[in-house]
Amino acid sequence: MFSSVKYLLVLLLLLLFFTAYNYSLYTNQSDYGTIRLSEKALQGEKHWRENNCNACHQLYGLGGYLGPDLTNVYSFRKNDGNYLKAMFNSGVKAMPRFDFNETEKEELLQFLMEVDQTGNYPNTEATIKPDGWVKVQYKKETYEH
Ligand code: HEC
Repeated sequence: MFSSVKYLLVLLLLLLFFTAYNYSLYTNQSDYGTIRLSEKALQGEKHWRENNCNACHQLYGLGGYLGPDLTNVYSFRKNDGNYLKAMFNSGVKAMPRFDFNETEKEELLQFLMEVDQTGNYPNTEATIKPDGWVKVQYKKETYEH
């Protein structure tokens, strides 16, 4: 039989573990690095939003499903910027025909290039660490431009 003192000790020990675990969780600095889009890519993101590309395309699996996920389209198309730029205005199949000028196409391309650098989707490199956090393998810690 547990005496009440032992009972209290176990309770205190559990509380101590709980506090220590929470402290370590909430003070944990993530090692994800900082990924910032360049000014040019931010312009591209603006075109992306204003033209509702996300209604049909996904980034990191989020978005509409009429068109393909474009997270890694840049490397998937073997870094062929000209192919992607041509796609923006081509209006193939269910993709509407857009009328971007050269600068806008460059900016959209830069956006997709930098998104591509942030990692892989689906992420096959992710591992679950013993403390429950997911460690994600980025292609680069930061994107230099
Ligand atoms: C109405 C839906 C729709 C919208 C909106 C749309 N797309 Fe698409 N997009 C598609 C479809 C469908 C395809 C696949 C065409 C094919 O298979 O030939 C596609 C293909 C593409 C591709 C080529 C992918 C590859 O690997 O060949 C790129 C790049 C692309 N879209 C970029 C964009 C951008 C940038 C925007 C916004 C400015 C946009 N799309 C808006 C439907 C859409």
